[in-house]
Parts: sequence; structure tokens; C-alpha cells
Amino acid sequence: MSEDLREKVKKHYGAIAGKVQTGGSSCCCGTSCCSSVVNPSLFYESDYLKGLPDEAVTASLGCANPLVLADLEEGEVVLDLGSGGGIDVLAASKYVGPGGKVYGLDMTDEMLALANQNKERMGVTNVEFLKGYIEDIPLPDSSVDVVMSNCVINLSPDKEKVFREIYRVLRPGGRVAIGDIVSLKEVPEVIRRAAEMWVGCIAGALNIDVYRQLLAKAGFREVEVRPEHVYTKSIIESLAGDTTNLSPGDLEKVDGAFAGALIGATK
Ligand SMILES: C[S@@+](CC[C@H](N)C(=O)[O-])C[C@H]1O[C@@H](n2cnc3c(N)ncnc32)[C@H](O)[C@@H]1O
Repeated sequence: MSEDLREKVKKHYGAIAGKVQTGGSSCCCGTSCCSSVVNPSLFYESDYLKGLPDEAVTASLGCANPLVLADLEEGEVVLDLGSGGGIDVLAASKYVGPGGKVYGLDMTDEMLALANQNKERMGVTNVEFLKGYIEDIPLPDSSVDVVMSNCVINLSPDKEKVFREIYRVLRPGGRVAIGDIVSLKEVPEVIRRAAEMWVGCIAGALNIDVYRQLLAKAGFREVEVRPEHVYTKSIIESLAGDTTNLSPGDLEKVDGAFAGALIGATK
């Protein structure tokens, strides 16, 4: 991944973390932010978020609830790639209990600071936030039971490397539970770029079949990619209001072209 691109992504998420720390929300619709198109309360049932600090919930930038697929058990070791303000890590910590462990990995200092503040607010001891890249995970081979991630892998220009790294750190029989944006049909590049302004996170979204193929190529079995929240033209219009830079014809083309999906697989 080019350092330049990494620095841009870090700057972007660093600014969002700063905003949340000063009492704002993570929502940055219209600024190409990778944020929840669908309100997170629609995909996180209240049980998952019970006991989490408000600051972790308002920092949510995900596009699905990976915990639904993760089916975590007490004592398991979990890794969340691109953990942001820590929402999924802190939620997972409740399910694995004191005998388990949840790692959150992120490259952005401000996000790690926010996540550590949220960890202190919640008072959990089975959580550790690590600094690093999802393309080069700083954990040993076969050391993790479940790898989660939420709306992060689409940001990586080297997704095959990310999948190989996930495979490496998972123990045999370990599970993948990912929320991510996928593309469901082809859209001309110029329209994809214009829609990115309003939807966010779609610029690097993989086609749904390619997502399945790349996971299988990395060695995974039982691969499932399930679109959960399809981004219709009315959702894009509601985000953009009158200011959309997409013509009616463009909106037709982008209608239903992207979705927040849940992705499961087994090593
Ligand atoms: C869209 S936010 C999602 C945060 C969190 N998963 C959530 O659901 O709220 C993306 C996060 O991934 C981190 N990130 C992006 N690319 C990364 C990479 N290559 N390695 C590590 N972290 C990355 C960013 O710093 C940011 O915190």
C-alpha cells in the first residue's frame, strides 16, 4: 500500500476520532467518509451495545454487525481488524468473558487513543488495542479463534494480502466474521467516484463474486457473502439531499449497485 494513500486514510480517520473525542458524532456523510449508510442502531440490536460507553457507539463507522456471524463463546481469542473507536471489540469482550481476549488492530493513533479511552470507560481487562496494519498483522500464526472486521477491508488496496494474513493468524477451524461493502453490479468509474462522496467506502469495494473467490484462494472454506443493506438510489438521495452530483441517469445506474454485507468463512 502506498505510504501516501495510508497517510491520507490515517488523516481522515484521525480527524473523525478527534471530532468524537470533542463530543461530536462520527457521521461525516457527504465527505467520502466510510460511515454507516444505515443508522447503526438498525443493525446492532440493543443487547450487543448494552454496557458500552456512548463514545464508543457514537464513533461507529461500520456497515453491518459482525458479531451476528461471529457467534462468540467464552474463552475465545478474537481479533478485530481496523477497530476504530472500539465498538465491536468492546461488544465482543462481553461474550468471550474474562477468560477470553479481544485484540483491536488499527493504524491511526487518534483512533487507538479513542479506543483506549473507551476501554477505560467500560473498565474491561480482556481487551488490548494494537497499532499496526491489517496487511501485516502483528500476531503469531494460528493464535486467534475469530477474526472480525467492520467496513475496513474495502479500504485496503491489497485485499489478497489481508486475506492471507487473516488465514495465517487463525487457528485451524477458526472463523471469519466480517462486515464490509461489496459491489453487486458494475458501475462506470466516474459514477462510482461521484457516488463515493455520499455513500463512502465504495471506491475500493470488491465485487461479491470476487470477494468469495479471493477468500477461497486464501484457503478458506464455507465462504458466505451475504448482502444485508442494499444502497438504493433513495438512500443515496436521502444522504445527498439537493446537493447530489449524480444525474437521474447516474442514480439509476448506482441503484442497488453496493451493499453492506456480512462475510463468513472457516479456516
Ligand atoms: C471505517 S472505519 C471502521 C472502524 C470500526 N471498525 C467501526 O466499525 O466503527 C476504518 C478504520 O480502519 C482503520 N484502517 C484503515 N485502513 C487500515 C489498515 N490498512 N490497517 C489498519 N487499520 C486501518 C482506520 O484507521 C479506521 O479506524
